Amino acid sequence: ALPDECKAFEPYFLLSDQKLRDIVKRFRIEFEEGLEHYGKDMAMVPSFVTGVPDGTEEGTFLALDLGGTNLRVCEVKLFGQNKFEIKQQKYRISDELKQGQARVLFDYIADSVDAFLTDIGSEMSNSHEPLHLGFTFSFPVEQTAIDAGKVLTWTKGFSAKGAIGNDVVRLLQDALDKKHIHVRVSALVNDTVGTLLSRSYQNGPALIGAIFGTGTNGAYIDKTRTIKKLGEARIADAEKGGSMRDFWVRRHVLPISIFDNKLDRESINPRKQMFEKMVSGMYLGEITRNILLHMIDSSLLFSGYSSPILNTHYGYDTAFVSKIEGAKDAAEARQAIIKDLQMDAAHVTDRDVEIVRWAIRIVSERACYLAACAVAAVVQHTGNDKVPEGKEDTGVDVGCDGSVAEFLPNFEPRVRKALKVLLGEEGEKRVRMGLAKDGSGVGAALCALQAKKAMDKKA
Ligand code: BG6
Ligand code: GLC
Repeated sequence: ALPDECKAFEPYFLLSDQKLRDIVKRFRIEFEEGLEHYGKDMAMVPSFVTGVPDGTEEGTFLALDLGGTNLRVCEVKLFGQNKFEIKQQKYRISDELKQGQARVLFDYIADSVDAFLTDIGSEMSNSHEPLHLGFTFSFPVEQTAIDAGKVLTWTKGFSAKGAIGNDVVRLLQDALDKKHIHVRVSALVNDTVGTLLSRSYQNGPALIGAIFGTGTNGAYIDKTRTIKKLGEARIADAEKGGSMRDFWVRRHVLPISIFDNKLDRESINPRKQMFEKMVSGMYLGEITRNILLHMIDSSLLFSGYSSPILNTHYGYDTAFVSKIEGAKDAAEARQAIIKDLQMDAAHVTDRDVEIVRWAIRIVSERACYLAACAVAAVVQHTGNDKVPEGKEDTGVDVGCDGSVAEFLPNFEPRVRKALKVLLGEEGEKRVRMGLAKDGSGVGAALCALQAKKAMDKKA
């Protein structure tokens, strides 16, 4: 059996139905606040994308994706009929680049675009027209136009100096121009918006684009009129249709344990994006590590022994969490503990295995349930929890991407379990969830297309 010490932490992780409902309620209040005023924790950032694609779009575009596990440069060919083809190259961003000078980071990005065009996308670069590029930049931005937005803060381990407060499109365009790379950054997109668009292109209109990856965030479609903070004039201007996106953040009401507080305090953005820190791939391993260390220090685990991995900040990767969570039995989990946690086999008892599996289960389960709260809150906020009267019920479509959605075992079944609590049996059934893998590349291309069309119209 598990030690009593474990029981003490369970209320922070094994969330009751009532707790889930309270979280959704709070989310909805904060949605309203974020729509009405700038500078709220729930940022509710308008995306300036005013419609979802219908799958008929055509053309070839570049896409650049910064903010997930890798930097990606893509060439996206849209064929219409919901079909596309994507050629891509991944580039690693070192910690030095993430935490150095923004100028150096953007020079590196421009070099990557250049290398890509030389190696792969050469047929595109022969034209005299500049290539249109959709830039997926997955960090908090105050977007002011389809191709402009100020960086608000860094997250997910980035802290490059000289970016905050500046227009990120300008930073990229300047770096490209300096190297005479014939590319025009025509659209700025958050990965969630990209996922929303790409899911819609492939599967028909979606309501939500969600990222459960290194970070966590969502985009959804709302009536422009609800974005009160835009002011009457701009609402009227934008009212041809509107989509917007939000940031799922905030401490209130969240079940914050001492392990979460430690993680937050030691993070590059303390007291910010707490929800994200309980759900995302960047953090699930670290929360688990904090729990295990506490158990070790209380002499309740591994006879009080630790390991270099466990002693290292962010040493325990979320991929290991997925591996142990997916282990078919205790013996397989034990193997993973010895290998991935670098534990001496002599210090790993059956009870230790049980404790590690318990820690991983409660951390993963909470992440999935919280993810469901965010989805349910959007479904309710937009009135999609009911079948529209007199209309055909087309359900609610959610496009997802990111390493947690893709690799954490039982992600969707657990999300669905909580959705049942929050939306009822029928409501849960109406929600379709699907992986829109690498969605933001396609989404960014679709945005670049929309921007190019608008530009052509003006010219
Ligand atoms: C990728 C998208 O597929 O998923 C990125 O192209 C996104 O834009 C990423 O940020 C999220 O997943 P992860 O796990 O790499 O952060
Ligand atoms: C972080 C970023 C946000 C992004 C999310 C998922 O929360 O701030 O912009 O959408 O991660 O990648």
